[in-house]
Amino acid sequence: MQLLVQPIGQSIDFGVGDNLLDTLRRAAVPISYSCSAGRCGTCRCKIIDGSIEVGGDRADCSTDAVLACQATLTENCTIEIPEPDEIVVHPARVLKGTVDSVEAPAHDVRIVRFRTNRPLSFSPGQFATVQFGRGLERPYSMASVEGDDLLEFHIRIVPGGAVSGHVARTLRRGDTARISGPLGTSYLRRKHDGPIICVGGGTGLAPVQSIVRATLESGNRKPVHLYFGVRSEADLYGAPTLAELHQRYPNLHVQIVVASGSVHAGHRAGLVPDAIAADWPDNHALQHFRGYVCGSPPMVAAVTTALVAQGLDAGRIYADAFFTQPQVVSQPA
Ligand code: FES
Repeated sequence: MQLLVQPIGQSIDFGVGDNLLDTLRRAAVPISYSCSAGRCGTCRCKIIDGSIEVGGDRADCSTDAVLACQATLTENCTIEIPEPDEIVVHPARVLKGTVDSVEAPAHDVRIVRFRTNRPLSFSPGQFATVQFGRGLERPYSMASVEGDDLLEFHIRIVPGGAVSGHVARTLRRGDTARISGPLGTSYLRRKHDGPIICVGGGTGLAPVQSIVRATLESGNRKPVHLYFGVRSEADLYGAPTLAELHQRYPNLHVQIVVASGSVHAGHRAGLVPDAIAADWPDNHALQHFRGYVCGSPPMVAAVTTALVAQGLDAGRIYADAFFTQPQVVSQPA
């Protein structure tokens, strides 16, 4: 039996019942993967012709995407792998994290920094599952970058939320947590050395901060535009960190966009999609950009529409919507 892999045009022999990810790895096909358990989403690919079995069901070209690690080959088929030049392979790990600090930069946000028993390899923009105790587990994005001494997460305090309530009321320096990851596909595409636009809503600042820092620290001197949307001035946090980054890297342009209430000097009133449309009126303005978007589902949808309207190719927008309840391959507020 034959598997054809596009866009690289590689043909691979396989036996009926072989796992797709194993087959691709055996043939040295460049494909991202991490957990090998259907959780991180990094091994996703598309069926172009033929069909593949996933969890006992048949998936074909009408299926959005399949996770290679969960797919079984049963007949000749053709698949497409995403961005073969942008692969990331981080071994899935479970670490022990010890809380180094819990900071309250805004009334409903806590920044929790962990010292871990061993390093976590991840790409900027990815997230991990943090388990503070039995039944107290949520995915949160890393705001730090690989190599930092501490692993940093931004946690929104949700009214009535069991996990965020624990973080707000109980969590102390010295407490421990189980950290599993990395997860997620909205990671920084490092091969792109052109301009980027990053949009974070609320604690969606965390992955955006990681992506922006990694880009700037890698020496990219192309424009980096960061839009940070908050509901009101009272919800704003992280501004000193962004100002400090701007001081160090003049190619970083930060826009703080405040949706309601009075707006402080230097900040903008309104919604992020409107700010983007006002700043990039030409509908080809963003055609050479890559975009990274993280926030609530409606915010991610509206921003993605705005970016596409200003010329950014939808396939070059990497977006993670996050929820207040745990979701597979998504991030919570
Ligand atoms: Fe397939 Fe994680 S490696 S979902």
